[in-house]
Amino acid sequence: MEMDWGQIGKQLIEEAKLAREQSYSPYSGFAVGAALLTAGGKVYRGCNVENASFGATVCAERTAAVKAVSEGEREFLAIAVVGGRESLQKRCTPCGICRQFLSEWGDPEGFRIFLGDGQQEPESYLLRELLPLSFDL
Ligand code: THU
Repeated sequence: MEMDWGQIGKQLIEEAKLAREQSYSPYSGFAVGAALLTAGGKVYRGCNVENASFGATVCAERTAAVKAVSEGEREFLAIAVVGGRESLQKRCTPCGICRQFLSEWGDPEGFRIFLGDGQQEPESYLLRELLPLSFDL
């Protein structure tokens, strides 16, 4: 069956906004939400979880991925990400660590990343575009 990525992207962005409501970000004030779609059609939500030891902070994308993998998921199709201080004025792009982390379970040619800014249609990228020459063993 053909995937309607336009529709799926919009739905995942809505899920990411809900995920963002749980953000624990007292240090940066920057709240991020992510929604990860698995090959089986399940959606896992994640938010950023900060720590007084700043380097221990976990990004929203990795929270969602770790939730999914720890529930037995091994193949991801797409992720949506939203973030911002108060409102979502500009799109939040996944950090380099998260891009590499996600590459473990997403086909770089097929795995999609949707970025929402709260107003426009989500922007859509392939992981390959955001992570050229990803590390692999
Ligand atoms: N953050 C994410 O959750 N995802 C990203 O891709 C970029 C950054 C979080 C980490 C930290 O809690 C806050 O945004 C500011 O860096």
